[in-house]
Order: sequence, then structure tokens, then C-alpha cells
Amino acid sequence: MGRRMRGRGELELADRREAERPTWDEARIARHDLTGPRYTSYPPATHFRPEVGAAEWARAAAASAARGGPLSLYVHIPFCSRVCYYCACNRIVTANRGVGAPYVSRLERELALVVAALGEGRTLTQLHWGGGTPTFLAAAELARLMTAIRGHFSLVSDDAGEFGIEVHPGDLVPEQVFFLRELGFNRLSMGVQDFDPEVQAAVNRHNDPEQVAALLAAARRAGFHSVSLDLIYGLPRQNRARFARTLEEVIALGPDRLSLFNYAHLPHRFKVQRQIRAAELPSPAEKLALFRDAWERLAAAGYRYIGMDHFALPGDELARAQEEGRLARNFQGYTVRRADELLGIGVSAIGELAGVYFQNHRDIARYNAAVDEGRLPLERGYVRSAEDLLRGRVIEELMCHFRLDGRALGERFGVDFWRHFAAERRALEALAAEGLATFEGEVLRATPLGRLLVRRLAMVFDAHLAGDGGRERYSRIL
Ligand SMILES: C[S@@+](CC[C@H](N)C(=O)[O-])C[C@H]1O[C@@H](n2cnc3c(N)ncnc32)[C@H](O)[C@@H]1O
Ligand code: SF4
Repeated sequence: MGRRMRGRGELELADRREAERPTWDEARIARHDLTGPRYTSYPPATHFRPEVGAAEWARAAAASAARGGPLSLYVHIPFCSRVCYYCACNRIVTANRGVGAPYVSRLERELALVVAALGEGRTLTQLHWGGGTPTFLAAAELARLMTAIRGHFSLVSDDAGEFGIEVHPGDLVPEQVFFLRELGFNRLSMGVQDFDPEVQAAVNRHNDPEQVAALLAAARRAGFHSVSLDLIYGLPRQNRARFARTLEEVIALGPDRLSLFNYAHLPHRFKVQRQIRAAELPSPAEKLALFRDAWERLAAAGYRYIGMDHFALPGDELARAQEEGRLARNFQGYTVRRADELLGIGVSAIGELAGVYFQNHRDIARYNAAVDEGRLPLERGYVRSAEDLLRGRVIEELMCHFRLDGRALGERFGVDFWRHFAAERRALEALAAEGLATFEGEVLRATPLGRLLVRRLAMVFDAHLAGDGGRERYSRIL
């Protein structure tokens, strides 16, 4: 009986894979593969303004304190010991480990300022440390930071919370993985990018598959709930044969989740990317082939395409949350425990309080100066209108669940949905004619091709896109 059950399960999986397989129609993809925002916020951070600062923050914090609901906390730790040439993150490359302790002191001071306004003891359902490379910090510094956070907030139980940290495998030994689990982290994401030596040399990033395997094994033994690996396609010297080998190695490691990022080559914005030789980059057609091969291999290995860049095994919480309609999206990408409000601490960190976005100084000297003077290190922000909030929720719904049920959303938001979005509906009907979506009465569903190009569908609802000063600020969709 067990065998029959398994047989049926496998059949269902294969059927589902078939139903979800995009029509890899190159011409059609090329037509819709525009540049566009990644919608980790709406509107995107390019719209944040310096006028939105301390006064708005104080108002939003008072509203949040009165409400008192659960929070998410993001902590940015910018340091890396070595630069990767493709990097588009806010990071500071230094060999000086001495910068860690003063930075942690400033994070402690910033936390104290924030909590003084928000109230002590608020519940944290989600905690994420990103970078840079959080594990650049010494064990004692990591522990100090976690103690400060636990001192100000009440973290929900290990079962109920999403407590994640980004790690660079080259920086880490298995014992540190156990230490991170002891600190309270239950999700780990590890940057691999590519295992091929030629590609690694071209981007100055070296990870050894055996080392990654040892870290993954340690994470499993330590009881991490989920381990995710980051890969990038579109890197210099990548080709189908090389990337196929990387994927084979990655699939053999069996991470619960995978992020497959499209390499965003924006050398005018990220100077270090000028180290990359444009002639070594794969062409758009080769890049699409890399993505297509990866999609097919991952699907064949049982991974489900969650949405923009993300794949997960069916048993992973991300896949289950999507199945159950409770997936959400915030600045860290897809999430299952998003609180309505998000605090961001550290240089460049972004948060959202009472419907207002805030971003800290992206320049470390300014960040340091503000905190040293006892001021919140705010650089810019954005007060969202009721229309922004509505559009933001619609975009999030689309990015997470690939469908919009006009009637249900209308009831939820108190609008006559498709009447309110009549122009958007017409634009979506044109995209439906192109095979990106279908309409069934009030319900819009992205087709498998539309799922890949979901940003294209989301952009229809972006009322700020026209005045965006040129989309070259953004990366291409695929
Ligand atoms: C902050 S890093 C992860 C932690 C750690 N610093 C590391 O590199 O392993 C976040 C991820 O962003 C991705 N990334 C960085 N620059 C990128 C770019 N230009 N295009 C696409 N993905 C990028 C990489 O996959 C990287 O692992
Ligand atoms: S990819 Fe990660 S390790 Fe490399 S420079 Fe960027 S943040 Fe640092």
C-alpha cells in the first residue's frame, strides 16, 4: 500500500509540474521582460524622500505604541571580509575585525532610542539579520546583540517565530552554526552563487561544495527549521553546462529553499561591478536558457516555484504557506510570519511603522554620527496614502499567490475592485491576450508564464512607475 501511495504522490507531483511549467516562448518573454521594481515595498525605496524623518517617525511610533501589535525586526550588519564583484548589497569590506564591537554598541543605542518610543516588551514574531555578512561579528558580539534584542522585546517561541540570519559559508565553521542555533536563530540562508571555479574566479567569490555540505549537515543536526541557499544566474563565464553542474551539486545538498537571483548588473550604481568584464556576461538569450534549465532541474528534483527568485521543497513552510494562502512579502522577500510593522536597525535598514516607510542613513559615517548624538539615524522615508496601501496589498497578493479575486479583495478593502481598477483591468486583459494571465469573472490568475513575469503584472498596479525617472534604476525581470 505504501508503494501505491507513493506512486500516486509522484504522479500528482509530475502532473502538477506539467501544469505549472511555463511555455518557454522566447519572443513573448522578451516582449515582457522589462526592467522593474522587485516590490519588496510599494512604492519602491526610490520614492523615499528626505523630508520624511524624525517628526513622522515620532507620530508613527506613537500610533504603533497605542496599537501594540507584534513586530518584525531587521538588523543590518554591513561588514564583509572580502568583496564579491557582483555585489549589490549595502556592505563595507574591511579586514579590520575591530569595527564590529563599536557597531554593536551603536545598534544597542539605536535599539534603546527606538524602544523608548515604541514601548518595552513588544512581541517579535520575526527577526532577520542580514548584510553584508552578519557572521563577520565575533561570537561575543553576536551574543551581545541578541541579548540586547531579547532585553527589549519578547520573542515568540521557536515554533511560532521566524528567526533568520544570512551567512557566508566561506566565513563559517560547523561549530558556529550550532552557536547560531543556540542564540535562537531557526532559519539560515547561505550565499553560494555558483560552484564553478571559473565563475568564482570571475566574481572573486569562492565557496567549496564540501564546506557548504558540512555546514548544511551541521544546520540539520543543530535543528534549524529551514536552510536556504542563494544562487545567481547571469554571472560572467556562466554557461549551461557549468551552471548545470552547480545545480546538480546544489540539488544533491537538498536545501529546503533556494533563491535563484537574476544577476542585476548595474555598474553605474555599484562601482565594484566594474571589475566584471561585460564581454564575459551571458547574452539575454543565454541568460534565459540558464534560468529555464534551472527551473526544469529544480522542478524535476521536487522544488516548487514560489515566486520571484524563490523555490522551496513542498514540505517547507514557504511552500505550505503559499498553498494555504498565508504567504506574505516584505523587505526580506517572501515570509510566513510577517508582522504588520517592521523595524529596521543598522546602516541602510528599512522599516515600516503605521503605514510609513523609513530608511536609515546608507552612509556609515552619517549613521554613526546620528547615533552618537542620540538621534535616530533616519535618512528618508515615505508616508503612504490610502491608495498606496491598497495598491501595495494588491501587488503583494499577486506576488505571493498569483491571483486576484476582485470580489474578495473588494470586500476586504471596501472598494468595488475592478471598477476602481478599470484601467488596470484593461491593461491586464491585454496581458491576458499575451498569455500572461486568465480572467474568470472577477478572478485574475497568472498563467505559468505570468508567474515568471509576475513583476510585469504587478507593474500594472504601480501608479508611481510613470514618474520614476527612468526604469534603468531597476534590474530586468528575467
Ligand atoms: C547579503 S548577501 C548574503 C549573505 C552573505 N553576504 C553572502 O554573500 O553569502 C545576499 C544575497 O544577495 C545576492 N546578490 C548580491 N548581489 C547581487 C546582484 N548584483 N544581483 C543578484 N543577486 C545579488 C547574493 O545571492 C547574496 O547571497
Ligand atoms: S555578496 Fe555577501 S559577502 Fe559578497 S560582498 Fe556582497 S554582502 Fe559581502
